[in-house]
Amino acid sequence: KAAAIVKELEEKCGTPIGKLRQVADAMAVEMHAGLASEGGSKLKMIISFVDNLPTGDEKGLFYALDLGGTNFRVLRVQLGGKDNRVAKQEFEEVSIPPHLMVGTSDALFDFIAAALKKFVDTEGEDSHLSPGRQRELGFTFSFPVKQSSIAAGTLIKWTKGFSIEDAVGQDVVGELTKAMERVGLDMRVAALVNDTIGTLAGGRYDNPDVIAAVILGTGTNAAYVERAHAIPKWHGLLPKSGDMVINMEWGNFRSSHLPLTEYDQAMDVESLNPGEQIFEKLISGMYLGEILRRVLCRMAEEAAFFGDTIPPKLKIPFILRTPDMSAMHHDTSSDLRVVGSKLKDILDIPNTSLKTRKLIVELCDIISIRGARLSAAGILGILKKLGRDTVREEEKQRSVIALDGGLYEHYTKFREAMESTLKELLGEASDTIVIEHSNDGSGVGAALLAASHSQYLEVED
Ligand code: BG6
Ligand code: GLC
Repeated sequence: KAAAIVKELEEKCGTPIGKLRQVADAMAVEMHAGLASEGGSKLKMIISFVDNLPTGDEKGLFYALDLGGTNFRVLRVQLGGKDNRVAKQEFEEVSIPPHLMVGTSDALFDFIAAALKKFVDTEGEDSHLSPGRQRELGFTFSFPVKQSSIAAGTLIKWTKGFSIEDAVGQDVVGELTKAMERVGLDMRVAALVNDTIGTLAGGRYDNPDVIAAVILGTGTNAAYVERAHAIPKWHGLLPKSGDMVINMEWGNFRSSHLPLTEYDQAMDVESLNPGEQIFEKLISGMYLGEILRRVLCRMAEEAAFFGDTIPPKLKIPFILRTPDMSAMHHDTSSDLRVVGSKLKDILDIPNTSLKTRKLIVELCDIISIRGARLSAAGILGILKKLGRDTVREEEKQRSVIALDGGLYEHYTKFREAMESTLKELLGEASDTIVIEHSNDGSGVGAALLAASHSQYLEVED
């Protein structure tokens, strides 16, 4: 019976190449629709107001604040221009207490501003802030924000584990600025960016061929460089560069071609954001472990998978985290002892048989590979939209995609499946498409964008 449940899951989660192509095509279609009009698609295709990516000339001392996963980071970056690039970089990582993720806007922003102030207070003599200057900040805020300029935007909705009602619809720069005033920190937000935009900027700084960025972490999302004239909903001036970076918010993509199971549906209904972020719920780190828990629950209930009683801990939502799932999935010991100890330590299930453990590894494989292959299909969708999914003899241009996020970084089998699936999908065009890890590029990226939008820029020119 247990084996039958696994088999059924495997069938329902199937992602043959033909299906992935349908997903990629649907993604490209939705991208067009989202660019055509506001509310034209599940894909918001948010205009980031970033029309110039870093050049390498950026100079000065800038701060960045990166809020989006369970940790948030504060950074101090000394930019030295062409000759000295990122001359110095310091950062600190702080975890957000869970109650602040579901509390009030003031409480969250006060906490962040206080941590930032503490960090600013450690600024050394060797940090070169020009005299009389106000400190400036690039604010990476990894949630869907409707931008109204490079340094202003209202929160559309929360995603991932956050749910703070009174912040929705507020200008997040205003919220942060007020909190900074409350803690007595004099700093100006020069750029507000999504983590995908920060990663794209950081990636471009290191490599001029970077055209898109993808985050595979707690959540998932992508940003890419679009031609401004290909954005019908953009009514502003045509930027000099002709480019505009778009934050797709692809986590909210959905399509009838997505292989959804009963477990996905139940998890969605019980989630903080039912009906939303369906693509994200199939792919990202916040959810993979939870899907596994739900399958194990059914196996315990219907097939006595763990004996006559259902282990009580198995009933606790989100108790199985994706890093634990990854550890089980990568267990190479002959008796699968990592799987055994995870079951014991996390779920209080002692003495599992090798057969049981093997089935669990199989489940990890089915669930994670589905997510990995779907994310590859998403990337193909972007390349299709840009006409870079086939090789054109006349211009063998290289396209680099900057990748970041804990899932990509730490879940090896996920990463390998994503990369090999993309190769398979691209065929001979795969020679011109390169995936590059942009390690924490979004923090530096935000600092670079703060530099290029500094209030002191024109004075110097
Ligand atoms: C980091 C970025 O590297 O990746 C963050 O700097 C981003 O801004 C994060 O949110 C995503 O990873 P995770 O795994 O922490 O959600
Ligand atoms: C969620 C957020 C999105 C972010 C992504 C990765 O999907 O809505 O803004 O980029 O997570 O962190």
